[in-house]
Amino acid sequence: MAEQRILKFMNDAGSEKLSFYRNRMNGYAGLAKALAMESKDIITMVKESGLRGRGGAGFPTGDKWGFIPNDGQEHFVLCNADEGEPGTFKDREILSHNPHAVIEGMIIAARAVGAKRGYIYIRGEFEKERAVLEGAVAEAYDAKLLGKNISGSGFDFDLFVYRGAGAYVCGEETSLISSLAGLRGHPLLRPPFPAVKGFYGKPTVVNNVETYANVGSILNYGTKWFRSSGTDKAPGTKIFCVSGHVNKPGVYELPLGTPFTDLLAECGGVLDGRELKCVIPGGSSTPMLLPNEVEDMTLDYESIASKGSMLGSGAVIVIAHETCMVRTIWRLAKFYEHESCGFCTPCREGLPWLSKIMESIILGKANGNEMELMASIIKGIEGNTVCALADAGVTPIKSGLKKFADEFTYAIENKRLKYQFWTEQTAGAQTVRS
Ligand SMILES: Cc1cc2nc3c(=O)[nH]c(=O)nc-3n(C[C@H](O)[C@H](O)[C@H](O)COP(=O)(O)O)c2cc1C
Ligand code: SF4
Repeated sequence: MAEQRILKFMNDAGSEKLSFYRNRMNGYAGLAKALAMESKDIITMVKESGLRGRGGAGFPTGDKWGFIPNDGQEHFVLCNADEGEPGTFKDREILSHNPHAVIEGMIIAARAVGAKRGYIYIRGEFEKERAVLEGAVAEAYDAKLLGKNISGSGFDFDLFVYRGAGAYVCGEETSLISSLAGLRGHPLLRPPFPAVKGFYGKPTVVNNVETYANVGSILNYGTKWFRSSGTDKAPGTKIFCVSGHVNKPGVYELPLGTPFTDLLAECGGVLDGRELKCVIPGGSSTPMLLPNEVEDMTLDYESIASKGSMLGSGAVIVIAHETCMVRTIWRLAKFYEHESCGFCTPCREGLPWLSKIMESIILGKANGNEMELMASIIKGIEGNTVCALADAGVTPIKSGLKKFADEFTYAIENKRLKYQFWTEQTAGAQTVRS
């Protein structure tokens, strides 16, 4: 296994403890350096490191922090630990095994943007992770790493853990902010972006768990060290969540730019030696790629984009030959339909319409015009909604209709599915009801 930075000690007992973080990982040494620096110099350093957000879009973290105005207003830093995208399960591992790295990153971010309060918005279902995280926050308070006059620096910062209620849409940053403020968790049109008008209407930084977990070591070991892993445009490591038809599903921390074939080999290859059918490279909302598209692909933003997909959250879903793609895509569509907040008509009405059409195909009740109809519904949804959930929901359908058109056509014409291979690992156990 190549160099691991964040999850190196995930299998060691007690890795979540402050003493372990300090003694074995040089923890909070980056914070000590940051407390002695000017805010603007911290932001410059994070910019120079090239760190990009690990929540999905890959936006440069230092640039995001640099957007917070220096205007004397109250500012906030928020950590997005909602982790709801199907196939994504890395943040829960970081929170369970290295929570202090996240806390340290947030204190440094707060120092950089002049925030005195921060919140970690954790997915409601993460009960075990919440308990570990709250234990780590309590330890940090006891050690005077949080609260008033941190480590005698004169800098004050309070950190709170807030549980979400299990809505995927609350991972979208404006929705998260509304939910945290006690409002209904539905997204807002941007601009204004949270950096201008965020939590309680004040400038706010929102970053992913994995993003914050990289910050302490950047401050401690420097930008050159950080850039010694990964590619020029995508430095550092990335935690990939591998699921589906592989022999060893799990989390794999690898340098960005690692060949996809190396990751697949680390996972023990495709389940039971089957042939690869396709890969969803960055979470269920990213376009599917065929074997010939992934064979020379490296795991970084640019290489995956050049193949027509996205690195996203790093959730790699592997699908083996003979899996029924009509059912797989239908199952993904059901997720997005269920998670729509209902505010925009194209999302609220269009997503269930698409899954109903796929259900009719699966049940052998298609009448022949389904593929054209689905394409026209997708056109009506894309780009016409407040947030990206609806676009995310149509992405697997759109890419499936293009890449597996033969399977849809076969099912429509023959009133039965071409492939029967279907496991819980592919896309859940739910079955179509007539
Ligand atoms: C529907 C939807 C769900 C999202 N869920 C998450 C999530 O669970 N975790 C996350 O970090 N970002 C999620 N995002 C992206 C966030 O809006 C935001 O871009 C991210 O937290 C920024 O952090 P980063 O710059 O560190 O990547 C989601 C976006 C959308 C549209
Ligand atoms: S796109 Fe869907 S989830 Fe997003 S705001 Fe509109 S209805 Fe809500």
